[in-house]
Amino acid sequence: MDKIIIQGGVPLHGTIEISGAKNAALPLLAAAILADGEVIYQRIPHLKDISTMMTLLAHQGADVMFDHKNCLHVDTRMADKPVAPYELVKTMRASALVLGPLLARFGHAEVSLPGGCAIGARPIDLHLKGLEAMGAHIEVEHGVVKAHAPQGLHGARIFFDIVTVTGTENLMMAATLAKGETIIENAAREPEVVNLADSLRRLGAKIKGDGSGTITIQGVPSLHGGTIETIADRIEAATYLSAGIITGGDITVTKTNPADLEAFLTKIKTCGVKVDSGDDWIRCQAPKRENGEKLKSTNIQTRPHPGFPTDLQAQFMALMCLAEGTSDITESIFENRFMHVQELARMGADIHLDGHTAIIRGVSQLSGAPVMATDLRASASLVLAGLAAQGTTTISRVYHIDRGYERIEEKLKQVGAQIERHSTSEQLIPQGMLYD
Ligand code: EPZ
Repeated sequence: MDKIIIQGGVPLHGTIEISGAKNAALPLLAAAILADGEVIYQRIPHLKDISTMMTLLAHQGADVMFDHKNCLHVDTRMADKPVAPYELVKTMRASALVLGPLLARFGHAEVSLPGGCAIGARPIDLHLKGLEAMGAHIEVEHGVVKAHAPQGLHGARIFFDIVTVTGTENLMMAATLAKGETIIENAAREPEVVNLADSLRRLGAKIKGDGSGTITIQGVPSLHGGTIETIADRIEAATYLSAGIITGGDITVTKTNPADLEAFLTKIKTCGVKVDSGDDWIRCQAPKRENGEKLKSTNIQTRPHPGFPTDLQAQFMALMCLAEGTSDITESIFENRFMHVQELARMGADIHLDGHTAIIRGVSQLSGAPVMATDLRASASLVLAGLAAQGTTTISRVYHIDRGYERIEEKLKQVGAQIERHSTSEQLIPQGMLYD
């Protein structure tokens, strides 16, 4: 397992180019199952989760390969195995995103149930209820979802009593080939959902209302191939902007969309950060310590988009550890997304938990320490804390980070970070690890 070692205390300055979004690319790849033709993907990030999804599509019989221009070609016309085995699903729960497309394309599918993970139980009951409303017969046997729709899927009116991102994506994809109209109420409004809807329309789907709480899909007999592009990774962008803020520096991120980060940017402005942006870039300048300026504390509550993203909660907590005053951070989406709290405390942070709320009292500095990554975004908060801490921070189990951040140490080195990756011969990823 690799470790990342950081010598902290260096203000970061410069520009970082943002990669395609992991959480957009995963449903986009699953959508290839629906297409009667080759789909060419631009801006697919090179991440562990992406290669897992590629392996899953190939396992089903699809042709999957990168060309010399770094575009990914996926052709599922030869695919004939509508399955997603546990060996793959256990390493990436987003594998459940193939269920709707497989059912719509083949009329049956066997997809292993994703287990829980570090941040919560994360059931997919709403995905299954929606597919049943569309005419699927679903049984769960020995941890495998066995779904059949011998007459094909039909349109339905579906109301999500909890906003679910991949639930919205799964059912939107299934509905593209269903007979008749499907309306999804209380749908997720994330930019990744809109990217998927835009891409499905390029392949011939009839979808309206994406980005609002109500999405309407008119089923069509088939979808054709085409070229689609992944949007920028807004979570990566905000993570690197936070690296500049927490170290007292000045970072610009490019090839990104400021509109996707409204909640985050509004919040950090109230903390005294200077924010500038253009069509495809954002610049954040930390309060100037030399002028006696300090990062101010604030409170956040995570919410479905356009609220404050749960995927930025851990990173924002790292910022608030060094802010002036006390901050309350409430995690409203997942039941156990505070695994980073104990690790930050090892670095001198003053945090205590009261149910789903963390109360953070700002301290004057953090100190480097050996810490352990527990899930993808917790890992990012430890990197941020290490960049700001005095001394050396060693982060183990960095395979969590590699699932969501492309070449993280390379991108941070470009802006002055003293960060190295050390490969160790220790046992590979512990067996049975489940991932968020
Ligand atoms: C997506 O996960 C993202 N993953 C997550 O990003 C993100 O944190 C999450 O949305 C929330 O924004 C991908 O897009 C691949 P949900 P998802 O269904 O779709 C409950 C990261 O760090 N729920 O929106 O799995 C669920 O338990 C990852 O990049 C049900 O109860 O999340 C949770 O409490 C982590 N039943 C809430 O809804 C269901 O059938 C929101 O979950 C589905 C969800």
